[in-house]
Amino acid sequence: MGAPSSLNAVHRPLVFSLNGQRVELSSVDPSTTLLSYIRSETRFRGPKRGCGEGGCGACLVMLAKYNPKTKEVKESSVNSCLVMLCSIDGCAITTTEGLGNQRDGFHAIQKRLSAFHGSQCGFCTPGMTMAIYGHLKHEQQHQQKETAENGNCTNGAVAKPCSGPTSQEMERAIQGNICRCTGYRPILDVCKSFASDVDLEDLGLNTCWADKAEAKEEKLPLYDPKGDPTFPKFLIDELEARKGIQENGHARTLREEDGESLKARFTHVDSNMEGEKMRAWVSPKSLDELSAALKQLKGRKDRVKLVVGNTSSGLYKEIATIDVFVDISQIPELLTVNKNSRSLEVGAATRISELMDYLVDFRNKDGTGNVVAEGLVDHAKKLAGGHVRNWGSVGGNLVMAQKFAFESDLATILLGAGALVKVVTLTEGSEPSVAEMPLDDFLAKGTLNEDGLLQSVYIPLISDSKTDSKIVFKSYRGAPRPYGNAVSYGNAAFLANVSRNEKDETVIESVRLAFGAFGTNHAIRAFKVEELLKGKALSLSLIKESVALLKKEVVPLEGTSKKDYRVSLLVGFIFDFLNSLLSKEPTVTPTNLFPHTGKQNITIADDNYPLSQPTAKFLSQQQASGEATYCDDIPSPPRCLYAAFVLSTEPHARIKGIDATAALESVGAVDFVSLNDIPKGGGNKGIFNAFDHSEETLFAEDIVGYVGQPLGVMVADTYDHARLAAGRVCVDYDTHSVGAPVMNCHDALAQGSTLPTYPPSPLSVKHPIGNVEKALAEAEFNLEGTVSTKSQNHFYMETQTSLAIPDEDECITIYTACQGVDPVQQSVAKCLNLPLNNVRIITRRLGGGFGGKATRNIQISTAVALAAYKLRRPVRISLDRNTDMQMVGGRNPTETSYRVSFTKSGKITALKADILLESGWYADVTNFLPLLMSGTLKKYNWGTFDVKYTICKTNNVPKTSVRGPGHCEASAIADAVMNHVASYLGISGNKVRDENLHTPESFQLFQGEGSGDVGFTLPAIWERAKALSKLEEREKQIETFNEQSKWLKRGISIVPSVYGVSSYPMTATVSIFKDGSIVVEVGGVEMGQGLYTKVRQAVAFSLRSLWNKGKDVDMVSKIRVLQQDSFSLPNTFADGGSTTSESSCAAASQACEVLVQRLQPVKEKLAKDKGGEVTWADLCMTVRSWFYTPGVHSRTLRCNFFVTIILCYV
Ligand SMILES: Cc1cc2nc3c(=O)[nH]c(=O)nc-3n(C[C@H](O)[C@H](O)[C@H](O)COP(=O)(O)OP(=O)(O)OC[C@H]3O[C@@H](n4cnc5c(N)ncnc54)[C@H](O)[C@@H]3O)c2cc1C
Ligand code: FES
Ligand code: FES
Repeated sequence: MGAPSSLNAVHRPLVFSLNGQRVELSSVDPSTTLLSYIRSETRFRGPKRGCGEGGCGACLVMLAKYNPKTKEVKESSVNSCLVMLCSIDGCAITTTEGLGNQRDGFHAIQKRLSAFHGSQCGFCTPGMTMAIYGHLKHEQQHQQKETAENGNCTNGAVAKPCSGPTSQEMERAIQGNICRCTGYRPILDVCKSFASDVDLEDLGLNTCWADKAEAKEEKLPLYDPKGDPTFPKFLIDELEARKGIQENGHARTLREEDGESLKARFTHVDSNMEGEKMRAWVSPKSLDELSAALKQLKGRKDRVKLVVGNTSSGLYKEIATIDVFVDISQIPELLTVNKNSRSLEVGAATRISELMDYLVDFRNKDGTGNVVAEGLVDHAKKLAGGHVRNWGSVGGNLVMAQKFAFESDLATILLGAGALVKVVTLTEGSEPSVAEMPLDDFLAKGTLNEDGLLQSVYIPLISDSKTDSKIVFKSYRGAPRPYGNAVSYGNAAFLANVSRNEKDETVIESVRLAFGAFGTNHAIRAFKVEELLKGKALSLSLIKESVALLKKEVVPLEGTSKKDYRVSLLVGFIFDFLNSLLSKEPTVTPTNLFPHTGKQNITIADDNYPLSQPTAKFLSQQQASGEATYCDDIPSPPRCLYAAFVLSTEPHARIKGIDATAALESVGAVDFVSLNDIPKGGGNKGIFNAFDHSEETLFAEDIVGYVGQPLGVMVADTYDHARLAAGRVCVDYDTHSVGAPVMNCHDALAQGSTLPTYPPSPLSVKHPIGNVEKALAEAEFNLEGTVSTKSQNHFYMETQTSLAIPDEDECITIYTACQGVDPVQQSVAKCLNLPLNNVRIITRRLGGGFGGKATRNIQISTAVALAAYKLRRPVRISLDRNTDMQMVGGRNPTETSYRVSFTKSGKITALKADILLESGWYADVTNFLPLLMSGTLKKYNWGTFDVKYTICKTNNVPKTSVRGPGHCEASAIADAVMNHVASYLGISGNKVRDENLHTPESFQLFQGEGSGDVGFTLPAIWERAKALSKLEEREKQIETFNEQSKWLKRGISIVPSVYGVSSYPMTATVSIFKDGSIVVEVGGVEMGQGLYTKVRQAVAFSLRSLWNKGKDVDMVSKIRVLQQDSFSLPNTFADGGSTTSESSCAAASQACEVLVQRLQPVKEKLAKDKGGEVTWADLCMTVRSWFYTPGVHSRTLRCNFFVTIILCYV
């Protein structure tokens, strides 16, 4: 069915620039985000989708706006996953590719990120680049404004040299960004390298200088802001031309049969079997236009959303269900700013960062800083990340707090400051009526009615009025992270007017106490406590009374998580506030987290060149510029379809039926692929476990075993349509006939729901060491205890993703982000009943894996392979973050009960432990955990030792390997026991650990063969660590500090770690081209660990006798390591266990040895024939010649090696 005819009316298209190029779109789906547009419609892949919620910063772009009135350009970094495409009309967008790229030259930020080793998997790196750039621009704009205000600048748009931001400011650049691999230190070094006050010698290891003595600014990649992208001239001209012209959308029929029209800027019609559904974007330019639009929308079924920044969609996922977006960001009344010496009023559409800028500029009458304004800014710096603040509005935040009970910081601090709001009610045909009310009343009001609009916020910024009283404003925030995208568990803001009485006591003249986010519908004032304190002289007993009263006033709602913790936070806040007024000794000394400092001392030797050199990560500049290609960056092939999983919503149930009829009628839906589509001879195989060759099903059969278990995949013409359709598949469950689900280890034990370990009885697991029972019976002291370790979700930055392309002769190629192509190949082949040589798996790099893509990716790849096979069309999938977290289990939870015996000095004589490991519905790698855990538990000499493991099968998502699986859990258990003993004896945990370190003999006894033959190095490392950290000296200092400090206590601990490493068989090929360049293929996957970089160094090193260092060639740069391809390098394994890089290097080195054996005689002959030194280029050119090579009549110097190395405990 076609679009209604009225849609064909001509209207002004959406115009913006992308990396300097003009983009004009006459047709836009109003629900499209800027990120979706860039990634699906343009060649730019710099902005990545990490979370899709504004939380990770991977999708950052620069958004510049030109103001035709002031001629000013304002640039800010924004999360493109939250910005709606329709709202960027007239803006200039720059992605990291627009800053710099391989062809045109990289930007200084990109170069420095590479030089300071600021990327590993690189998935976050484009976002980091843009975050740093955004911050630099913000600082430059700030400086420019200051220069202009000081009278030195004639035009705000003219760039002036500036002294530059401080390290402290620069570190905040990445507040809204997450990196899961690199560790923030090198990235912070890059931030600080742009600061005016940085001591370059303090920056960490980098490739700009080998020695700190050489640390000079000129050695850094040069940054000249003059080379930065500017606002395109054509866009300025266009915006100037538009000025004064009344912007018009065209009358669009929302639903044709209604006969009513709405002035919509853009509309989009989705047709499906149920009819047509239109989405519209309305951009009123005045309250009148808004009023008219709202009137037309009134009473309709359409879901309407007023939009400013749309950042709320990061928290409340409603975009897909919205029919009409009403963009209120350009209504003048919502953008006004009124300042005087005692207050600030901003329109509701003012962005939070703009409000902060106004507050920073605010000065009291006498020119001094204002305590309330400063307090508000300090708190706002912790709210969300800078990029969300740049786009999210003040009004949007407050309405979210009112409408969704959002845990807003802004609402609480503005409430504390005594803000008022104006609410406007729009009535068609008459003047809008405006009501002013305290923020408390607005928040308590509940949702605004359909005609209501938050117009502005008025903030009183009072300063000390009398010399004998003082205004104090303090705010608090308890959140999972102090800075950056973590919503509060509780927040508070207190404003008091205090004076001293004749007894020199503090008197509270007046006070406002605002609390929020603690599990309440909205921020509230603690009126009773305010009343109690008012007019009183502060005393300890009054503080206690206040705390007791507060506990009655701040009661979290039923169902709030961490209730007690939240209340205790609020109690801590008020206690600290009142105590700071009462006492000279502050409760907590404020700690300034910025800038972070640390020292790295590394000696760079020339031996083993180039292995010993700090080498920039292979293609790290391309990672920063967004040119490094990840699986989901591969352009979709023609006729490509998109898949979304249909997952079980029950933990344990019988499937009575799956009905996809409604889903298939949904917009863009193509097919539902399920068990019935597995070809004849194929199997319901979803995961082939390379470790023990066990298998998991692809889709649940009769019974579902956990919430998140795949039941099928919905395939559609876009991701969004596939997800919408997947949500419409109806599954009929019978939960009665299967019994109650088993949700934890205790239930599993009670029901005998256990799984075997693997190998079934490994020596290290089975055999106790010594006579534990006897040691326990004879011990001086005995203790019993329990330790539980919780699960941990996977959060690799790149979610699971695959692209399957059917090929001739029943072949299929799958591009995927997996930790090993071989198990994926096997699983797909088994499912589709194909020989392995019909299934080609290609993996170039991963945006992080951490164990989560070792097994769980196999199911995702097999599902798209089945869909592509069935539909004979390419099919791709990229899980959204929620689905990823639901489908991919995290770390295994453990429950340990133990008995331990020890002497008075803390020497342990026995450990007997009973460990329950939760596996979830399938074993995945849980059955290996006992093996891994035992090795780590035995890091201490327990005297005698016995551990029993039970693997508990539950109705939870299968747990899988997560960074150091088993090791982290075992280490935590071992040290919990040590600390238990220490606290019982009243001695330091460090001492107990020291007492129980292994001797070489006891290590041999405990670890058996695993102890290796390289010597037990731990005691030496331990002593060195103690000496370097000055442990004893610091322990004494801490003791003194703790005696003197009433509230703040410190501690220090030193913990040993042993990690069992073993390596897997590895393959490699090394091929040399005629021009001397080299390609290498290895069986390991590059997932951020630097495998390719190490392999390049290892190959250059292994060929060292054939080239001449310093004179000849930069050999490392000649080497390219290729993606993993199951056809060109078959029978590999999966990455894991921290040895894949080393095995890959070893395999490649062995291949090089053969090449050296073959080429060395050629080189010698050539040297003799030519006389003098033979260069690498000469050698390669000569070898080209068929006849020159003595004894070797082959032009192809290609080797394929299978290498196994076994490493031991170190
Ligand atoms: C990752 C992330 C982290 C965050 N962390 C924090 C945090 O730590 N602390 C905190 O306080 N906030 C936090 N926020 C919230 C953030 O401040 C808000 O999302 C933002 O301010 C909303 O503004 P907006 O313009 O994008 O609103 P929009 O998304 O455009 O609108 C939000 C809601 O308000 C309505 N609305 C908007 N303006 C008006 C108006 N003038 N009148 C009537 N209705 C209106 C809209 O219809 C919508 O329902 C976070 C947000 C994200 C995405
Ligand atoms: S912030 Fe946009 S993808 Fe994470
Ligand atoms: S390098 Fe930052 S997430 Fe991998």
